[in-house]
Amino acid sequence: MNPMSLLEALDQSDLDAVYKRSLLTTQGWSDADLASIRSLARTLAGFDRAGLSTSLCPSELAWAVFFDQSTRTKSAWAGAASRLGMQPVIVDGSSTQVSHGETAVETGAMLGMNAHAMGIRHDLILGEGNTFIRDITQGIDDYLAATDDPRAVPVVNLQCDVDHPTQSMADLMWLEEKFGDLAGKKIAVSWAYSPSYAKPLSVPQGLATLLTRFGADVTLAHPPGYQLIDECMDAAHANAANGGSFRVVDDMDEAFADADIVYPKSWGAYDLMLERVDANATGDTEGLAAVEQKALARNAEHTDWICDERRMGLTAAGEALYMHCLPADIGAEVSPGVMDKYKVDVAREANYKVYVVMALLAAAKVPDIAARLTEIAEEASQ
Ligand code: CP
Repeated sequence: MNPMSLLEALDQSDLDAVYKRSLLTTQGWSDADLASIRSLARTLAGFDRAGLSTSLCPSELAWAVFFDQSTRTKSAWAGAASRLGMQPVIVDGSSTQVSHGETAVETGAMLGMNAHAMGIRHDLILGEGNTFIRDITQGIDDYLAATDDPRAVPVVNLQCDVDHPTQSMADLMWLEEKFGDLAGKKIAVSWAYSPSYAKPLSVPQGLATLLTRFGADVTLAHPPGYQLIDECMDAAHANAANGGSFRVVDDMDEAFADADIVYPKSWGAYDLMLERVDANATGDTEGLAAVEQKALARNAEHTDWICDERRMGLTAAGEALYMHCLPADIGAEVSPGVMDKYKVDVAREANYKVYVVMALLAAAKVPDIAARLTEIAEEASQ
């Protein structure tokens, strides 16, 4: 696609609204804010494919800290920062002084001194991750204000206990590529069996809160006891009131019936996620291991919650789009055959995260981003 044509979708006045902004949850951003980021992400993806350099933030530090494992999001952060000319640095959270009790606000101030953007993953402990990210953001902002430092140091939530906003935005962009308008589309977000670990709740929560904003009919399915946090369920119901619908069922087949899109993935049983909070608070590592074993035993009561060929046959014309944030437990969450059929689709879904992160950083850091990209495109066309 011609990079100049992609620029037509950019509106600097919309982008001005997200200059210097941090993304902590999609719920905290307006539809217009999220639309401007998606337009910019599409433009940056087009520039990337056209081989145009977008080194808009040279010599800047893009620092990310992960308190949980990651493949895709770490690589998306590094890829996005590199494409903007920034230096990405990714740190294991357990190697920081946070593990010795340094507070999030203090840590934010320390990082705000010399970093130019910050990403955080803190997703395993209910009630803690999003608060940690907000406290880091506060620490950075307070430091910059106290020192009259004009730098924009946006914080990007790279998955917390509440939301995984770069994932749900990537998912939304993939859905828009496949379907255009989501109005009237039936989307099944379902729990699925996993023997590997008790996964965070934030992916289904992020999907339920974001996709209900676009007129889709979203069905959330899970076995009894696997409910999600009230804050996100309330938001999903409220968002759906503007068009589309949101319902919760306890039957995977019911959710899959006639669905256009299915997103089956595992998460931990709610009461055990709360037990994990208690064990973590007292540093009880044996207790944490015991909770994990209980969570896997609980999951094992529902091995029939798998996205397989039979269930895909229940969907619209038997051809629903299969989605997953990855990694998927193949043979448990999804059958090998279904995963094989959609392996390129899920990779393309994942690839959008690079451009979502890139757009978030570029929009927050470059005040005249539309003009700067126009200059790049004009230079390239000479
Ligand atoms: N989907 C996702 O966030 O993948 P990672 O855990 O590998 O980052």
